[in-house]
Amino acid sequence: MSEPNEKGVNYFATALETPLSSQTESALRPPSFEEFVGQKKTVERLKIMAGASKKRGEALNHILLSGPPGLGKTSLSFILGAEMECNVRITSGPVVEKAGDLAGMLTGLEEGDILFIDEIHRIPKAVEEYLYSAMEDYRIDIMIDQGPHARSVRLNIPRFTLVGATTRSGLLTAPLRSRFTLQTRLDYYSPTDLLSIVKRTCRILSVDVDDEGGMEIARRSRGTPRIANNLVHFIRDFAQERGDGSIDKPTAQSGLELLEIDQHGLDEMDKRILRSIAGPHKGGPVGLNTLAVAVGEESDTLEEVHEPFLIQCGFLQRTPQGRVISAKGLEAIGLSHLGETDQSELFA
Ligand SMILES: Nc1ncnc2c1ncn2[C@@H]1O[C@H](COP(=O)(O)OP(=O)(O)OP(=O)(O)O)[C@@H](O)[C@H]1O
Ligand SMILES: [Mg+2]
Repeated sequence: MSEPNEKGVNYFATALETPLSSQTESALRPPSFEEFVGQKKTVERLKIMAGASKKRGEALNHILLSGPPGLGKTSLSFILGAEMECNVRITSGPVVEKAGDLAGMLTGLEEGDILFIDEIHRIPKAVEEYLYSAMEDYRIDIMIDQGPHARSVRLNIPRFTLVGATTRSGLLTAPLRSRFTLQTRLDYYSPTDLLSIVKRTCRILSVDVDDEGGMEIARRSRGTPRIANNLVHFIRDFAQERGDGSIDKPTAQSGLELLEIDQHGLDEMDKRILRSIAGPHKGGPVGLNTLAVAVGEESDTLEEVHEPFLIQCGFLQRTPQGRVISAKGLEAIGLSHLGETDQSELFA
């Protein structure tokens, strides 16, 4: 039932499958380590593991990839599949609801296959325990039937590789985390790396871009390839409708202005967070939940998506008492001192 894609990588075609990425997204996915820009340390670690395992003719050891969304975790797992010339089955933590779901997936694997579990920190605790013996001993014991007929059945599983991806490695339990041989973290990309990604995307989409135009997009992509690619798509449309179709600095600037993306790449929610701390909360410290209510966003999203970037830029600090805005953060939202905004200006 599974459809091989152009690299011979198979997807699980069952009810457990996570939606496939759009055609453009898969066209833009780097197919090999050579085309994967940046993340030098992680790439080197993965190359070493893949190279050595392949020479020994063994399955890769289990790998945990962590980091904010859109930095290339899914892409890397497909690259590993291509390197190891094995199938990559994809699923995600919240869809593996019961031990039976997991058993079905594991027993459907072939020797050496990669099972990619996205958002692995969201796997239910009861199911997680079955993963332990699967990862370590390549077997699971599941209970079938109930009451007096209940019995435990042992299923043997082919030697597989679990690649777990998570935006919140801190939420992984210690026993699960310790079963990954390699735990590696992806960081935000530098503007130079993002420029290479922007140029590669433009090449694939057949759009002309010069270095300055590309850099304008790269600098405002929140260190994230997926955002860079989205911006390229919009700026390409903008260039076609309002310019000569090619992306230079003025075109990129006008297009990004229309999207209200400022020079640091902060989006509306980032700015709302900074304004809330600076204004109503007088610079902080303010607790995560209070902040989430003030800006109208889930606290998980604040913690996983917005905060890491704001902290990385030095706009926000996390203290034991709560979040505090820095002088640089104030400057980023055009304020020189605290308390200038009130709640009504937050959504300006
Ligand atoms: N290092 C890279 N070089 C080139 N393009 C990249 C790189 N990393 C990511 N991309 C691009 O960004 C897109 C998003 O990457 P990917 O889906 O692998 O991220 P992710 O970490 O799995 O995100 P999420 O956590 O949201 O699932 C890819 O389709 C690809 O086009
Ligand atoms: Mg992904």
